[in-house]
Amino acid sequence: MNIDSLNNQIELIKPFGLLITSNKAYQDISVLPINRLRQLTREHGLVILRYFQSGFANTQKLVAYSQQWGEIMMWPFGEVLDVQEQANPSDHILDNGHIPLHWDGMYRETVPEFQIFHCVLAPMVGQGGCTTFVNTEKLINELNDDTCTLWKNTVITYKTKQVTHYGGEVTSPLICLHPNGHKWVMRYNEPMRTIDEKYSEHHSLSFSGIAVGEQNHFKQNLNKLLYDPQYCYAHQWEAGDILMCDNFTLIHGRDAFFSQAPRHIQRVHIHSSPIYVNPHFCCP
Ligand SMILES: [Fe+2]
Repeated sequence: MNIDSLNNQIELIKPFGLLITSNKAYQDISVLPINRLRQLTREHGLVILRYFQSGFANTQKLVAYSQQWGEIMMWPFGEVLDVQEQANPSDHILDNGHIPLHWDGMYRETVPEFQIFHCVLAPMVGQGGCTTFVNTEKLINELNDDTCTLWKNTVITYKTKQVTHYGGEVTSPLICLHPNGHKWVMRYNEPMRTIDEKYSEHHSLSFSGIAVGEQNHFKQNLNKLLYDPQYCYAHQWEAGDILMCDNFTLIHGRDAFFSQAPRHIQRVHIHSSPIYVNPHFCCP
């Protein structure tokens, strides 16, 4: 069975990604072959399914579906993270502020290949809360040679305290080989914004391979390129959206949103086969 032969509308998103919209109202998600979805996610970085029936607000259904994608990466809280604002959050993820770009699993022994997101409740347009994705493969491919060499020689050490379900120290080149060994990708965790006073000390970065006097210019240029609309896509959620992301190639973050705006996203991580052991995680 081929997705393209089904009664769906398939559309390329700018600057990257694929939106598959069910033409027949609320077909069951099971009509979409998972092997093809996996292939499309690797090829396009993002695949978004809209107007499909999933029942994923029932966590058991989301887990059962995700298991068909591969081995689920387990966390202390289980298979599914409920990303929603909490009254007294232990971490910025569970607050309503901006989340800096990062890759998932960076502070764990293993790194998942895919994220599966399901939107239970979406903020209204204008309330913020878009999830941002950067296609680092595309960005690297379009860098000039000097910048590419500089980035390949830059190594960054990140440190964060374990306050919730992750933490430790990570040292990674800014540009790394993809686990498949066939393409270059970026691994980068953007610093917290200074206006985010509450979490400004959340994690620290130290750079090597770049002169101290050049670091400010380097960071400004990096930030400008990461948020360039040629490489960065901000997803405005609609309730019911299902989004698959290639965590090996993309990095992601979140725009701040109005406090108490409806926003509830479920997230599951899927391991590659074989499982990818994190080469950059130094210590918990
Ligand atoms: Fe994340």
